[in-house]
Amino acid sequence: MTDEDLVAAARAAARHSYSPYSGFAVGAALQFADGSVVTGTNVENASYGLALCAETVAVGKAMAEGARGGLAKVAVTGPGEDVITPCGRCRQVLNELAQLGGTDPEILCAGPREVRRMKLSELLPHAFGPADLG
Ligand code: THU
Repeated sequence: MTDEDLVAAARAAARHSYSPYSGFAVGAALQFADGSVVTGTNVENASYGLALCAETVAVGKAMAEGARGGLAKVAVTGPGEDVITPCGRCRQVLNELAQLGGTDPEILCAGPREVRRMKLSELLPHAFGPADLG
């Protein structure tokens, strides 16, 4: 799967966004070392603060299917003209899965005009992770 395909998968996931309160549809696609892809989108709630972000939903889906590492790349798309980067909580959630497999995934923050690429370690330096509990 190309990076364009991964971004397209994130955009496709955003079509299922349940975001009636913010109107802000986000998509995420996780690519694993074995080539598999797991997507997520944001799921809001009438109790506003309980919203689940797209990246967190994707990590939850992947881990519920057995993923415990191998996270290679992540694509994130928002609804606007500008790229969005994962929120702080999502960075931490992504870090858990990444550290389990000892990877530092590339995060593709994709907008209509550009794709900004960052490593998770750039977005979340000096991260606290499972190894710190050892
Ligand atoms: N959102 C995400 O899905 N991922 C992020 O990284 C940032 C924010 C969602 C949460 C909420 O449903 C909407 O975007 C507006 O904040």
